[in-house]
Amino acid sequence: MAGVMDATAGCAGNIAYSDDNVRGAKGIHESGICRMQDRGSPRPVAMSEAGLNGDLFDFDVPAATASLAAGATLLRSFAREDEALLMQAITQVIAASPLRQMTTPGGYRMSVAMTNTGLVGWVSDERGYRYDAVDPLTGAPWPRMPELFRDLAARAALQAGFAGFEPDACLVNRYEPGARLSLHRDYDERDATAPIVSVSLGVPARFLWGGLKRTDPTKRLPLLSGDVVVWGGPSRFVYHGIAPLKPGHHPLTGTNRFNLTFRKAR
Ligand code: SIN
Ligand code: FE2
Repeated sequence: MAGVMDATAGCAGNIAYSDDNVRGAKGIHESGICRMQDRGSPRPVAMSEAGLNGDLFDFDVPAATASLAAGATLLRSFAREDEALLMQAITQVIAASPLRQMTTPGGYRMSVAMTNTGLVGWVSDERGYRYDAVDPLTGAPWPRMPELFRDLAARAALQAGFAGFEPDACLVNRYEPGARLSLHRDYDERDATAPIVSVSLGVPARFLWGGLKRTDPTKRLPLLSGDVVVWGGPSRFVYHGIAPLKPGHHPLTGTNRFNLTFRKAR
């Protein structure tokens, strides 16, 4: 996740959007994103039905598989059936390795609270970004990655065209209202052939999807609970981020959003 540091330091400059931009995501969905196939329920998933904040987006989000770019796929609702079990498992992970707001090498406290599960975990502090087998907060290894996590990540990767994905790291992100993750690339992993698998749970997010250069134009699209994004191959080092979380409520997560980011780090 290189680039978080400078991005955090210069948040306002990197991310400038308004409600209009988000509503503009409808345009993105219709034009910039190619809808490939329906998966599961053929009918649109209405915001009200999903128990979400109705004024966040003023359009329905279809259950579908969409290509964001070469090597990048949005799997709408892919994890919908697993949501409750995923949240239970997250609660157990947090009980062993608590969420914490990490410090960037530049000395900024990140607004997103993080922990990890897996053989290694992503950490940031004054010394830099790295993967560590030990949780610096507890001094113990990170909690073992639940079978459900590994299985979901592998199934999503396969669906997106990446067979044999075996993540050894899962970053758990918690966004409270207003929390954000500025444009960055996931850059600290040794295996560049493995994709990134990102699972959204709870309050909807506005996902920023850019290009290989920080200055490339950025699309904004909603990520709802149960949505999974997979990016690898030519999209592996695309800049991405999360706009400040809007107030909302979800039965599983309250006012928060959780995100699981699966990687092959070593
Ligand atoms: C990340 O880039 O690590 C997380 C993205 C997200 O929260 O969806
Ligand atoms: Fe990332």
